[in-house]
This record gives sequence, structure tokens and C-alpha cells, in this order.
Amino acid sequence: MYKSLKHHNYHFYHLILIIILYILNVYGQYVPENRYAHSAVYVRSESRIYFIGGFKVTPYVPNPMSDVFYLNINFTDANRLEFTDLTSQINLPLTIFHDSELGGVNKDLIFIIGGVNWKDPDTSHVYSLNTKTNELSVPIVQGKVPPSRKGMSSVIYEGKFYLFGGQAATTGINTLYFNDFNIFDTINLNWQVGSLVNSPTARILHSATIVNGVIYYIGGKTQVTVYPPLTEIYQYDIVGNTWSLKEATAADPKFMPGSRAGHTSILIDGKIVIYGGFFSSDDIQNKLPAKETIAILDVNTLVWSIPEFDARVDNPIPKLFLHTATAVGEVMFIAFGNFTDKPDGFDQTNKDIYIFVFGYPQIFSSSLSLIKNMANANEAQPQIPTSTNTNINPQQPSSLSKVVIVGISIGSVSLVLTILSVLSIAHYKRTKKSKVQLGGVPNDPNSVEINDDKSHSEYQQQDPPTILTESP
Ligand SMILES: *[C@@H]1O[C@H](CO)[C@@H](O)[C@H](O)[C@H]1NC(C)=O
Repeated sequence: MYKSLKHHNYHFYHLILIIILYILNVYGQYVPENRYAHSAVYVRSESRIYFIGGFKVTPYVPNPMSDVFYLNINFTDANRLEFTDLTSQINLPLTIFHDSELGGVNKDLIFIIGGVNWKDPDTSHVYSLNTKTNELSVPIVQGKVPPSRKGMSSVIYEGKFYLFGGQAATTGINTLYFNDFNIFDTINLNWQVGSLVNSPTARILHSATIVNGVIYYIGGKTQVTVYPPLTEIYQYDIVGNTWSLKEATAADPKFMPGSRAGHTSILIDGKIVIYGGFFSSDDIQNKLPAKETIAILDVNTLVWSIPEFDARVDNPIPKLFLHTATAVGEVMFIAFGNFTDKPDGFDQTNKDIYIFVFGYPQIFSSSLSLIKNMANANEAQPQIPTSTNTNINPQQPSSLSKVVIVGISIGSVSLVLTILSVLSIAHYKRTKKSKVQLGGVPNDPNSVEINDDKSHSEYQQQDPPTILTESP
């Protein structure tokens, strides 16, 4: 392995202030189950990514309460990269296909809006979760409450939660797609509406990303099997309250990203990174992975390109949808969701979190489980990475904001060394997450709207077991 290390260029090490493998104590730690249609919120002040709700395929009779847990991304903490379960403290009914954003006066309240609930088809109320006290409340809200919905997309900007589109939450298959534009003020606790002049047509499962006060809307579905092309970029200017439709192109037309829904988009280094998603057609009813799992939109030129990955790394790029994407500085956390490339009959849900590190000409990725396995292996062989440990500065607790994963082959076994790159939190230029959830009918999250599969249309409200109806 040192042989291969030698070939790495100096610059690489210079950029990545290396180090490795803290010993992770995984015993007794909470391990969340597979899920999809959850939401994720980065709480920067706590260095945590919260995960809320989502549908779990097992157990067969679900917990009627939502899971709420967080991933600790403070690398100076002994519990770094571990999950903490808050479910028993937070009585949020099982909620799926909702949106969550961090808001409130002190930016410490997670607002949970919409989606479908286990028992309550009316999801028009707003939940507020205090990240300091774990208190969940339903604040009294002024203004005209928009109808319940799922599969909208959201961003938060200056305390306002912007929600465009979505689908009626309480109805069945080919039902209402919304093109309304609702704005929830998390500080003054009221509902407002945004302009609909030149706004997109009704859609679901699109993504929204805020860039310098402009929200970019990408993809989604406008009808059951109709997916707008990714050349169409809708921009909403918040200050002007105006919409415009722009045309994007591809750096290389061969690599134009395909239409998609149920994907995510986040802002990294001033560029929009989209990930995953599915499409289908009248001919092909199954979910198919969107062409180009990961793509980057330059917001100045509106040119799509496909990022390059560092060839020394294994770089898992799972084809997912209904996952979440969270940006922490220049690191993207892709969590849970369903695989689009696993045949029906196989478990398609993803249990892992994938970590993508940007900020270098090339990207690195690894899964959280691999990092943990490596850390455990390293515990057995602590001598492996010690040559680089000196680059860690434990006296700088606010640093360590990055995870870089470098895979290095040792013999025939591809091993991954975990390289924690050190960047001051003060260097975070931006923190932003956005995600897309999509909807099903209240008791059948796997509705036709999601995967266009006829088998999903059986649906009986108020009959809990039908939430578990699966495709054959
Ligand atoms: C996600 O995967 C699970 C397990 O394979 C499956 O039961 C479910 O229908 C899938 N959900 C969607 C929306 O495709």
C-alpha cells in the first residue's frame, strides 16, 4: 500500500490535510433501518443531520410514530459519525413524503410540513421540532392554510419555507397535481402565497435549490409518465417575486442528464448538484434510473456537466430515488432511499449513507458503513495509517468538516482508507440542503404516482395493514 501511496501526487496530500481512522465505538450504537421518503435537515450549530420519518418496509406492522434521529458529523466528538435516536422523545406520527426545513428566529426549529400521515389524512398542520429541547409542537398559524399535499419541493430562505407544487395528499392515483406556490414564514408563523405569473405547470417530485436568492426548479413529473427535460430550468427570484424559464445545455450532449423525478439537488461550491431519481414511460412502466446519476449545473452558464471521480477510489454511486441529499460545506451526504436498479422482488431499500467529497478537481465517494468497517479494521491494525495522523489538529475542535475517502488497493482486496480532511467550519461558505420527497396515498406510500406500477393501486384508507401493500 505504501507503494501506491507514493504515486499520489504531492498536491493531493497538500490539499487534503490527511488523517485517519479514529477508533469508532460502534457497539451499542443506534443503527437506523432502511427507509425512503424521509426528510433530512442539517443543523449546523449542532453539527448534526436530522432524519425524520420515512417509510420502512419492515417491520410489517410499522411503528405509528416517525423515527427521528440524527447523525453526528462533529469529527471532534467521540460519537462522530454515529446516530442518536430521538424517537422515544418526539411523538411525531409516522410521516412520509413530507418536507422539513430549519427555521425560526434562532434557526433551531425544524419545521415539518405536509406529506402523508399514518392515521391523519389531514397534514395541513405544521410541526415544529425544537432541536435544543426535542420538544415537538404544532404552532398556531395565521393565513390561509394550503390543502394537504405530498411530493412538493422546498427551500428555506431568510426564515421562509417555499413550497411549490406537489400532489393532493388524501386522494388516490391520478389525482390532482398542484401548481400553487405557498410560503410559510417560520418566524411570523403565517402562510403566504408567491406569484404564479410564468410559473411552472403543476408538478411533483421535482427539486428546488436556492442560489443567491433565486430558487431553481428542476425535473419532476408533470403527469403520470411525463417528465420535463433537464434543459428546462425554472427560476424564481424571491425579491422580485418573479418567475422565468431558462434553457440549460450540456457541456457534451452525449452526457445530457436525463429527465427524472424523486431526485435531489443541493448547492455545492456555487453549483447545483443533482443526484439520482427515476423515470418511466407509457412503454416502460417500471421505475428506471435516470440517465447520469450525478450531474452538476453551472448556475452562471446553465451548462450541465458530469463530474469526474478520483480514479484511486472505489467511488460508489448508487442509483437511488426518494433519498435525501444534505450539503455540509463541500461534502454531500446521500441518505437512504430506494435503488432504481434492483429488480422487483429484491429489497430495493437502502440502509446506508453515501458521502461525496467535492472541492477537488475530482470527487470522492464512500459509504458510511465502509468508513466504519475500515475504522474497525484499523482498530485491529492501528499501524496502517499512522504516517498521516500528524495532520490532524485536535486542538482545533471547530475544524474537521470534511470527510474524504480514498480507496487504496491492498493486494486483491480493495480497502478504503478514511481520510478526514481538515477544513475550518468558518470556511463553510454555504450550508444548504434540499430534498425531494414524493407521495403516495395515505395508506399506500408505494402508489402508482411513484412508480407507475398498476399493482400499487389497491388502497384502503383506515386499514393500517394496507400501508404495507407491496408490489408483487
Ligand atoms: C422501495 O423498496 C421497497 C422494498 O423493495 C418496496 O417495497 C417499495 O415498493 C419501494 N418503494 C417505491 C416507492 O418504489
